[in-house]
Amino acid sequence: MLQRIDKILSSQGICTRKQAKQLCKAGQVIVDGIAVVKPEQKVDPEHSNLVVSGKPVLFRRHLYLMMNKPQGVVSASRDPNTPTVVDLVPEHLKRQGLFPAGRLDKDTTGFVLLTDDGEFAHKILSPKNHVPKTYLASVSGKVDERVVQAFQQGIVLADGSRCKSASLRIIGQQGNHILTEVILHEGMYHQIKRMFAACGCHVETLHRLKIGGLTLDENLAPGECREILYKELKENLTH
Ligand code: URA
Repeated sequence: MLQRIDKILSSQGICTRKQAKQLCKAGQVIVDGIAVVKPEQKVDPEHSNLVVSGKPVLFRRHLYLMMNKPQGVVSASRDPNTPTVVDLVPEHLKRQGLFPAGRLDKDTTGFVLLTDDGEFAHKILSPKNHVPKTYLASVSGKVDERVVQAFQQGIVLADGSRCKSASLRIIGQQGNHILTEVILHEGMYHQIKRMFAACGCHVETLHRLKIGGLTLDENLAPGECREILYKELKENLTH
């Protein structure tokens, strides 16, 4: 699809449209070997070779990021009082319209997927799609086979709502707490905390490890993110 060159450069987070105009005028924007001097000139970014200030531009129609969310950060695009996951995205990966596809509580850590692709986010968040989410929960109280069975049968929360069957695996003792793995097939508000609470237990820490078949990259420190290619996403999140 043909698009204005200044729009392409700003959509890719390379520069603002104003800067694109200056770069074009300075002969710094090369498309298929030829300098494009007019910022309004249209090119097909998916089938052209783009070089800006000597650096090749890898055009991405949409951006998909895997973030290791730290505690104390909200899963939102903007918040007047609290840092958001979008605030943590480094400048070179920032894009207009970036938002978290799905939410974690402020005190939950781990895998958050950020994108500017509304259609894709809608698809993976839709209850019809059932993308399972895997969490590590450190829990206090009596976590035993009875709780494992209750999770499997579908917990009834304190407000009467019934959860779908979920998988609970006891990994082992962690100090005074029990480390568990929980796999959910839906996403109700504070769901894991409320499921354990319904069994007389308390979630001390919660960490999301996987979304569908995608595992959080263990090289990402809290607050860091990296790009995920669309192909990798499609193979692991949709069926
Ligand atoms: N369940 C919770 O209780 N909190 C989360 O952040 C995610 C799942």
